[in-house]
Amino acid sequence: MRNAIGSKPSVIILAAGRGVRMNSIMPKVLHKILDKPMLQYVVDSAARLNPFRIVIVVGRHYEEIKRSIDPASTKGRIRFAVQREPKGTGDALSKAGTFLKDFKGTILVLNGDVPLITAQTLGKFLRLHRKGKNDISFISFIAHDPSVYGRVLRNDSGNILSIIEEKDTIEAQKKITEVNSGIYAIESDALGLLKEILPNTLKGEYYLTDIVGIARKKGCNVGAYLIGSESEMMGVNTPSELLKAQQTFRRILIDKWINRGVMFLDPGSVFISGNVKIRSGAMIYHGVYIEGKTILGRDCIIHPNVHIIDSIIKDGVVIKDSTVIEGSTVRSKAVIGPFAHIRPGSDIGSEAKIGNFVEVKKSMIGKGTKASHLSYLGDASVGKDVNIGAGTITCNYDGREKHKTTIEDNVFIGSDTQFIAPVKIGRGAYVGAGSTITKYVPPMSLAISRTEQRNIKGWAAKKQSSVVSCQSSVRNKKSKAGKRKGG
Ligand code: UD1
Ligand code: MG
Repeated sequence: MRNAIGSKPSVIILAAGRGVRMNSIMPKVLHKILDKPMLQYVVDSAARLNPFRIVIVVGRHYEEIKRSIDPASTKGRIRFAVQREPKGTGDALSKAGTFLKDFKGTILVLNGDVPLITAQTLGKFLRLHRKGKNDISFISFIAHDPSVYGRVLRNDSGNILSIIEEKDTIEAQKKITEVNSGIYAIESDALGLLKEILPNTLKGEYYLTDIVGIARKKGCNVGAYLIGSESEMMGVNTPSELLKAQQTFRRILIDKWINRGVMFLDPGSVFISGNVKIRSGAMIYHGVYIEGKTILGRDCIIHPNVHIIDSIIKDGVVIKDSTVIEGSTVRSKAVIGPFAHIRPGSDIGSEAKIGNFVEVKKSMIGKGTKASHLSYLGDASVGKDVNIGAGTITCNYDGREKHKTTIEDNVFIGSDTQFIAPVKIGRGAYVGAGSTITKYVPPMSLAISRTEQRNIKGWAAKKQSSVVSCQSSVRNKKSKAGKRKGG
């Protein structure tokens, strides 16, 4: 059997197992590490190899798994094979075969529960497999606790004999620390060997690992490559392994950003997911979560307990404590928070200020505009250098539909103003504090809608004297009644 040097590989990802050790109704491979399901990590690493096709073997949670995979990551090269009953990894691989009938070359087999594997290691592995002209290869590693993996059996000359699972080991084999990662390269011509796998005597499952021993006995070229680290190869079968993978991955990412000039005050308390990009000079305080496709610009300062999701934060932005920013853009040198909420679809202009207890939803806020306290700006378009007074509310919802508020450049909005949308405020206009604005305000004018103030002289003195005379008459009545009772 020969392998196709230089041609694109195909990838099969095994993801149909029951995952009983996870103790969860959710399919094991959909459990998340930071913000992405485990399986997506494997798909992403596979996609970076630019494969001919990716086949994911799924079980009864077929629809759920299909929905969870980002189609953009695979450019239409993905197919789903169904293994109705999880009869073992060998059986799972055979289910993928029909989707690769038109393929000749190297098939890279990955486990959906080995999420931290990198494209670099996979690329290196494929090169070694091809260089060795192997029919079957797999990645092995030295495990701290080998009992949760299949052991690699070699003869005295170091040649591979087979892989043996923990339950099938004898005492002497339990001491072996070289284990199987579950990552294989199999030439398409060698796939026929799958038919020769017999059910495991203890579990009744068809173990893919048996293909290694079968291939050796038939005189095929088999290679095992001790590459990559234990943390990269770790399999996730239990909640505690998931937590360990999460911690490992989090630390790998943080170290990467530290090496690229990002500063952290307490990196152990910060979560930054895999797709986030951070420019150098950013300073990140404790308890910060940065998720999704967020890009953080140069020299940003992110204060404690800030949560940023899918947002673009430009250079020099300061985000103060306990602020949440989702699906929005914050332009350079803007200052956000503390306790602000920037909801999806917002665009905060450069040098703008969004202060404490201000909520902005699907709104454009112009350069230098300030909304410093206690406001709600929803479906609004606010121009440059606008002052939004404390307590300003855009009343954008009439119970059925959302309406827009437009505030042009250099407008001054007094405190406690409500805009009954749709409404527009012209350039340079003023709105008096406490106003309810229901119609167009022309440029450079003053709109004021509160009732005129009246001062009633002596009112308080009169009220106090009437209260005093009322109290003394009540006291008199009580004392007369008391005397009657006593007499
Ligand atoms: C497997 C290997 C073990 C290796 C370890 C690496 C076997 C028999 N053992 O053990 O040698 O050290 O991975 O992490 O292969 N799956 C299916 N259909 C099934 C059963 C499993 O698609 O019928 C999928 C699972 O969803 C999972 C992968 O195959 O993604 C591995 O299955 P799992 O049960 O986790 O095997 P391990 O016990 O971890
Ligand atoms: Mg596993």
